[in-house]
Amino acid sequence: MNNFDLIFLFFSLLLAIFVLITLLFFFLTPSSIKSYISGAPPVPTPKKVIRTALKEAGLKSGDLYFDLGSGSGRSLIIAAEEFGAQVVGIEHSRPNAFVSKINLKIRGIKGEIICQNLLESDLSKADVVFAYLSISLMKKLEKKIQREKLSFKVVSYSFSFPNLKEVKRIKMSSGKSIFIYEL
Ligand SMILES: C[S@@+](CC[C@H](N)C(=O)[O-])C[C@H]1O[C@@H](n2cnc3c(N)ncnc32)[C@H](O)[C@@H]1O
Repeated sequence: MNNFDLIFLFFSLLLAIFVLITLLFFFLTPSSIKSYISGAPPVPTPKKVIRTALKEAGLKSGDLYFDLGSGSGRSLIIAAEEFGAQVVGIEHSRPNAFVSKINLKIRGIKGEIICQNLLESDLSKADVVFAYLSISLMKKLEKKIQREKLSFKVVSYSFSFPNLKEVKRIKMSSGKSIFIYEL
C-alpha cells in the first residue's frame, strides 16, 4: 500500500463516518425515541378507518383539518383529496415530518406540516382534529383542550378521552373503535 492508497482510504473512512453521523442525526432523533416511549409509535391508521372516521366526523370542503401526530401524512392526503379540507399535520418526529412533506408535495397538496409536540401546538383554528395516539397522550390532550377551552370535532382511533363525553362510537372490524367528540 503506497501513500496515495493510504490517503484515499483515510478520506473514504472520513466520508463514511460523516454519512453515518448525518443519518443517525436525522433518523434517531429524541422525538422519534420519545414516540416509542409515549406509546404512540409511527403506526399508520388503516385507510378504511380514516375514511370512516372523517365521514362520521362530518369533515367538509374548506374545513381546517388537523392530524395530531400526522406520521407519513396519509390522513392529510385523504382529508384533502377526498373531502376537500385544508390540512395541517402536527408531527414531532423530524423524519416523519420530512416524509409527509414530500408525500403532500408529490400529490400537489398545499398542506402544512408543523414539526412540534402536539401538546404545544396551536389548535385554536381547527374544525376537525384526528388523533391516533396513546392512552397517556389522550389524557394530556384532554387537559390541553380543557385548559385552552378548545372547540372543534375530535375523531380518535383506538383511544378515548378519559372524561370528555363522546357523541358516537364506531366499532371497526379490527376490533378497535373510532370515538367522536364535539367540543
Ligand atoms: C400511531 S401514529 C399515527 C400516524 C398518523 N396519524 C396516521 O393516522 O397514520 C402516531 C404518530 O404520532 C406521533 N407523535 C407521538 N407523540 C407525539 C407528540 N407528542 N407530538 C407530535 N407527534 C407525536 C408519532 O411520531 C407518530 O407519527
